[in-house]
Amino acid sequence: MNAFSDISDILASFIDGLPWPALLVSESGEVTFINHQMKAQGHLPEIQAGAHLSVVCPHFYNALQGTPPWLTPQDVDARNLQTGAQQRVSVRRLPLGACMLITERTGSEFDLGSAQTARLASLGFMVAGVCHEVSNPLTAIHSMVQLLQSSGSLQPDTLERGLTNIAANVQRVLNITRRLNDFSRSGIDQKTLLSVGQPVTEALQNTQQHALFRNIAVEQSIEPDLWIMGVADQLEQVIFNILLNAAQAMNGNGRILVAACAKKGARVEISVRDSGPGIAPGHLPRLLEPFFTTKPAGQGTGLGLAICNEIVAEHGGSLCADNHPEGGACFTVMLPAHERRA
Ligand SMILES: Nc1ncnc2c1ncn2[C@@H]1O[C@H](COP(=O)(O)OP(=O)(O)OP(=O)(O)O)[C@@H](O)[C@H]1O
Ligand SMILES: [Mg+2]
Repeated sequence: MNAFSDISDILASFIDGLPWPALLVSESGEVTFINHQMKAQGHLPEIQAGAHLSVVCPHFYNALQGTPPWLTPQDVDARNLQTGAQQRVSVRRLPLGACMLITERTGSEFDLGSAQTARLASLGFMVAGVCHEVSNPLTAIHSMVQLLQSSGSLQPDTLERGLTNIAANVQRVLNITRRLNDFSRSGIDQKTLLSVGQPVTEALQNTQQHALFRNIAVEQSIEPDLWIMGVADQLEQVIFNILLNAAQAMNGNGRILVAACAKKGARVEISVRDSGPGIAPGHLPRLLEPFFTTKPAGQGTGLGLAICNEIVAEHGGSLCADNHPEGGACFTVMLPAHERRA
């Protein structure tokens, strides 16, 4: 079984087990899998797996934004043309395309609380990905142990290399499980009224503990009196992850500009721009996909931005990445602004 069919099978069986209607869409927008909840609830009676999303569910397709819309992580409302029901469509990137999860509005609320539903689903997608991701280091460990066991008398340096290889693979598995653990635990915190400067300043203070930031000049331009409802620790984690990625992309040398300002439509924008090499155009649409990394094996989990995106979505906002026209990468977090009450 190759890696692609392997992960498709894992994802399909996970998505079939979800208690909500869901479907999988390929990178070119074809519907590749429809779960039994979606079939059972008659959301899309005519669907044929393999047809394009715009044909299978035009009401979802029309409600989605971005280029291409079916691969852009988002939570949008759509009206079911047949039943008239209001539905929320949550799109999340996956290794071979995207998953769309559908929740129905019951009364004025979405089933289960849409943010909580999306978190559960995202955790599930990541766990499905983990099954695939940890199988590589585990296979490597297994082979190495067999090799060491079958070699009669081992030279100390052979043993040393074998053990180093095992330790690196164990570390890779631990990195993945730690990240997921932090993410799953952080879901229970209550949002409070925050000045946007608070999580930004805390994230910047955090960078001072890291040697990687020693030769990086960080400038900040934070407008005063910008308020949001949020979980300070989670937002700090988002900004810190973006700063860390920037420092890694610049190999510890360069400039970072962190800015926060008010935007039209009662929104607050936090942007992090670096003077690094920028992002290859082909990688841009995949950055928020769980496990997408360009770092050497064992150095990056590819979960950093996927988790940031989840946290920002839970705050009613969005995360975007782009290259700046004057060079370097620029990450933008958009959040709903909040009035400060006296
Ligand atoms: N500022 C940046 N400049 C250039 N590329 C970036 C930048 N930030 C992120 N990337 C790219 O996005 C990829 C995904 O980032 P993400 O944080 O999700 O995972 P990672 O950094 O590779 O792994 P981990 O976060 O576990 O260390 C990176 O591997 C890198 O290719
Ligand atoms: Mg990262």
